[in-house]
Amino acid sequence: MDFSIKTLDAKTAAATLKTGCIAVGVFENKKLTQAAKELDSKGQISAALKSGDISGKAGSTLLLRGVAGTAAERVLLVGLGADENVSEKSFQSAVQAVAKVFASLGANEAVVALPFDGVQKRDVAWTIRCAVLAARENAYRYDTTKSKKDPVEGGVKKVAFAVGAANAAAAKAAAAQANALANGMDLTRDLGNLPPNIATPTYLANTAKKLGKEFGFNVEVLDRKQIEALKMGSFLAVTQGSEEPPKFIVLKHNGGKPKDAPVVLVGKGITFDTGGISLKPGANMDEMKYDMCGAGSVLGTFRAIGEMGLKLNVIGVIPTCENMPSGRATKPGDIVTSMSGQTIEILNTDAEGRLILCDALTYAERFKPAVVVDIATLTGACVTALGHHNSGLFTRDDEAHDALADALLAAGKETGDTAWRMPLGDAYQEQLKSNFADMANIGGPPGGSITAACFLERYTKQYTWAHLDIAGTAWKGGAAKGATGRPVPLLTTFLINRANGK
Ligand code: BES
Ligand code: MN
Ligand code: ZN
Repeated sequence: MDFSIKTLDAKTAAATLKTGCIAVGVFENKKLTQAAKELDSKGQISAALKSGDISGKAGSTLLLRGVAGTAAERVLLVGLGADENVSEKSFQSAVQAVAKVFASLGANEAVVALPFDGVQKRDVAWTIRCAVLAARENAYRYDTTKSKKDPVEGGVKKVAFAVGAANAAAAKAAAAQANALANGMDLTRDLGNLPPNIATPTYLANTAKKLGKEFGFNVEVLDRKQIEALKMGSFLAVTQGSEEPPKFIVLKHNGGKPKDAPVVLVGKGITFDTGGISLKPGANMDEMKYDMCGAGSVLGTFRAIGEMGLKLNVIGVIPTCENMPSGRATKPGDIVTSMSGQTIEILNTDAEGRLILCDALTYAERFKPAVVVDIATLTGACVTALGHHNSGLFTRDDEAHDALADALLAAGKETGDTAWRMPLGDAYQEQLKSNFADMANIGGPPGGSITAACFLERYTKQYTWAHLDIAGTAWKGGAAKGATGRPVPLLTTFLINRANGK
């Protein structure tokens, strides 16, 4: 899909645009947007509204052909709701509706002339991104492992956004940035959706190397011997039941000044989580192929910032392996020594995410990071707490951490990829007490997502750190089963804002 910007001014009026389809907004009170008025010289659009063929409710649509006085073959009327000061939500419904109609239209190219500068509290960059993401979301297909690919029938391939001259430059930059973000999300979705016999640790490592070649990242992949040399006893305990070789992936995007401290993203890369000896029940266990979505989101975010050429130093760290039962697997009660030197009593081998992340978090110290954010499908308890709408956000609560949390929450709100802040603290830490090691790897049922975060917190004392539990947001189950690409929008926007000094 190709996106471009068309500048509308006195010379180029909406009515003169030669295109397969032009989408314009209408309101519930039968009022027209400026662009719709310009196409209404013969009153056909007003008549359509009056007849009740389109309500104007946000997301309602009506396709008209042969609108007199307009050069476009078709006019798509799109409802924007009641308020002429369009709400965020109404705009979102409108662009989603346009994307749906465009997907099966008999036109190759189209123009969207919605009020990109008329949305409450949002600027043109926001509305353009919203429109691009809606189009790309609609166009996403997973068919890598289907022998018969779904045929792509018709649909608009080239979309131009019509804006006023004053907004053209901002709109152009926003469209390019949003498309890069969508490319990153698509990669994250593909990696998540791929079956666990294909998306192995080796596959993730090869994906990182490929990204490195394409976008100029420095990529290092450590194998088992090197992981052993680093004394990552906790990570090794998780991989030891599996035949599939573990990998420890490090990507570097050196977009900032050489001396600037990097942002480090750490992604959980369990390519299949059986639970290990603490075996999971069989129902829906296939969904544990998504247990690498933290890793996938780091790779997707790199895909996005690489294409953008983001001026920021960012390092990605991905510990990746399978969690399998076998005669060599870790047993409940085993005690291991993490890279930090702290010992861990593994009371439940299904609490494996924290075991691979803790060594990666210790490894991250060497980069003297500005901040570290880990991303993990860490706990079912997080899904119980927050459902599928918000990712769980955990940080300590001093000033530096509050600032980091606020920046992450704001980036999430900006892109509709929201997170919700959860507590940490000594009271919860007590649940991790072990009689035989420095800590246990589980804290019992109460506050399961919090004690998991508390476990990680013990490995992050050297820097400012945040943890995102994406167990409820990284993929959808049921009939629409599939990866969502979250939290790539949150992470990428957080990094963009940081690069812009915000
Ligand atoms: N990958 C799972 C978390 C998960 C489970 C995410 C279901 C999404 C849906 C994680 O490794 C896990 O198994 N966590 C356990 C922890 C428990 C043993 C303390 C859990 O959440 O049940
Ligand atoms: Mn598990
Ligand atoms: Zn897991």
